[in-house]
Formats: sequence, C-alpha cells, structure tokens
Amino acid sequence: MTNSFEEAGSEGVGDGTRAVRAGLPEPVKHEPTLPGPVFAAHFHLPGDPTGPYTYGRDENPTWTHLERAIGELEAPGQDGVETLVFASGMAAISAVLFSQLSAGDTVVLPDDGYQVLPLVRGQLEAYGIEVRTAPTGGDAQLDVLDGAKLLWIETPSNPGLDVCDVRRLVEAAHARGALVAVDNTLATPLGQRPLELGADFSVASGTKQLTGHGDVLLGYVAGVDASAMTSVRRWRKIVGAIPGPMEAWLAHRSLATLQMRVDRQNASAQVIAETLRDWPEELGVRYPGLPGDPSHKIASQQMRRFGCVVSFTLPTRARADRFLDALRLVDDATSFGGVRSTAERRGRWGGDAVPEGFIRFSVGAEDPEDLVADVRRALDESAE
Ligand SMILES: Cc1ncc(COP(=O)(O)O)c(C=O)c1O
Repeated sequence: MTNSFEEAGSEGVGDGTRAVRAGLPEPVKHEPTLPGPVFAAHFHLPGDPTGPYTYGRDENPTWTHLERAIGELEAPGQDGVETLVFASGMAAISAVLFSQLSAGDTVVLPDDGYQVLPLVRGQLEAYGIEVRTAPTGGDAQLDVLDGAKLLWIETPSNPGLDVCDVRRLVEAAHARGALVAVDNTLATPLGQRPLELGADFSVASGTKQLTGHGDVLLGYVAGVDASAMTSVRRWRKIVGAIPGPMEAWLAHRSLATLQMRVDRQNASAQVIAETLRDWPEELGVRYPGLPGDPSHKIASQQMRRFGCVVSFTLPTRARADRFLDALRLVDDATSFGGVRSTAERRGRWGGDAVPEGFIRFSVGAEDPEDLVADVRRALDESAE
C-alpha cells in the first residue's frame, strides 16, 4: 500500500513538505489524517495465519505508518528500502549487530561512539565475535577493515562530533565484502542520508531529534539488503524489543514538525557554536558547521544540515558544574535533540574519553538570542 503523495514522487518535494506528509495513508472519508494508535496484542485471524497483522509483537498498523514515514525521509524515492521500528535506539543497534554477526565473524566499531557501545563490544566478544575499533575522524577504519563482516560507523560521533567519509568507507568496505551500518542519530534523516551514500543500514535512536520532545524512546533500522533486513526483522521477533503503539504514534505525529524543529535548532546551534568560538577564553568548541572545525570539510560534502549538538570544554570540572548551574534556560540533563535545550558534563558518566570540563550542549527551539544571552551570562558568572 502506498499513498498518493508517494506515488506522485515524494523525492521531488522539499523536506518540510515531505516531513508533514510522510507515511500518511490514503485519505478516507470520515477517518483521521493520521490514524490513531492501534492497541492490539492480537488481530482477528481465522484460518491460515497469513499477514499483515497477526500478532502484536510481529506487526502493528501504527508501526507500518511510522516505518513508511521514516523510510520516505531516510531514502526518498529509493526503491527496496525497508524500515523497522524498535523500542529504543539500542534495540535497533543490537538488532543489526546481533542479527548479522556470529561466532568467528569480525566487526569494526568506533572507539569514540555512543557510550553504551563498549558494553555491546563485551557482549559481542562473549559470543565469539572479534571486535576491532577505530576512531571516527580521519577514516582510520580503513586500516582495520580486512576480513571484517560489518563496519559500524557513527557520524557525527557522540559526543566528540568527529565525522568520517561515509562514501569512501562504504566503497572500501564493500570491496572487501563487508556490510556498512551508519548510526544516523545525531544528523537525523534531514541532516544525512546514509543509504544514498551507499550504506547498507541507517540505524538511529528516534529518542533524540527525530521525535524531539524528550518524551519518547524509539529506534529504527532502515536497510536496502532484503536478506539482511529479514534477519533484522527475525531478531525483532525473537527479542521482542518493540515500540508501544502510543510511542510509535507520538513519533509519527512529531515527524510533521521535524523540518521546522531541525532548521530552527540547527541554526541556533550554529549561533551558539560561533558565540563559544569567539569567547575570549579558548573553549575547544566542536561543531561540524563551523568552517574551522576538523569535521567541516567532509560534513559539508555529505551532510545537508549539521545537527543541534555543540560540544566544548571548560578548564575544570568545578567550572563546568558552575556553568551548568548558572544556566537558566538550559536543563542539566542527558540525551539531546529536544525542543528544550539541555547540557551536561559528559565526564560524569565515566564512559566517554573526554576531559572533566567537557560539555555536550543540545540546542533547543528557544529564541536564539535568549539562549546566547543565557550562555554568555553563565560563562561570565561561572568564571572565577
Ligand atoms: C548516537 C547514539 N546512538 C544510539 C543511542 C541509543 O539510543 P536509545 O537511548 O534510544 O536507546 C544514543 C543515545 O544517546 C546515541 O546518542
């Protein structure tokens, strides 16, 4: 089932138009535009158990609409893309890694990616899978690709905001017979389209900017390799890490404002990054949208928007804590991508190789001049 918007060629329209229409079913008189969440553990099923809807762990109509929507955003107009939604980003990541790899295989992971990846690494190794790691920046993955079955990249990386050249790595990996998965959480499908860059999987936490309100946990895998996606689907069935219908519906509703949120938040992130760059103290600010940033060149080639996360380093842990305390419009909280700005001292978790004063700042949808004023005041007040 497609809708008339898709049939008319959704690839020809702008991101805002695509976002507000993504995944909507054909209009039906007296029915809502986006059908409400379907709460069903099972569906009427006389006779042979054929699909599409049999049991609620396998399929749900609310997921179907959302999966279609995400697929349209990740790969507009691209044939053969399948999207599966999960209970969280980690459920989606684990589904790819554990469905594609088995004992004796080798995988390449980033050594500077999301802080749960080292736990995943331990589990992969416990199952007899060899794990090699490489930093995200500088395409260092090329040196450890030989013999790998899967290359996992996270670009931009969280929280360091390094970027690697997806096309170049895909070419090298495919030449060696390895599949490539890209964690697209930070960029969102409006910022980067990994499948267009040649990747086999685009995987993301929808918990962040995709849904954008800090109230939903969600993940997804979009892929082009039919047999690989069959394994990912099978993994979802086995493990059962499925999203609730309410979460799936909330996520779909949030997609309608994705372009507005992303454009507003990312433009403000650029302004905050420039403010921090021009501050009289050297703050080591990182933002792929800054022309002087080490990530900027590749990011400009492969990204369409640079994200809403800015990172920088205050000289000490105490200064960073005072800064966070002094902010009035920015919550001290983890996660990122929400319409309400958040920031945190990343070192408090102990999982990232960052200095004690390292701050990850997620820029929300507040008025940029208010945010800039808040940041400037907090920097002043927290100085000794
Ligand atoms: C880059 C990245 N990937 C994956 C995840 C995991 O997502 P979730 O928290 O939805 O499981 C996160 C969470 O912060 C993340 O930042």
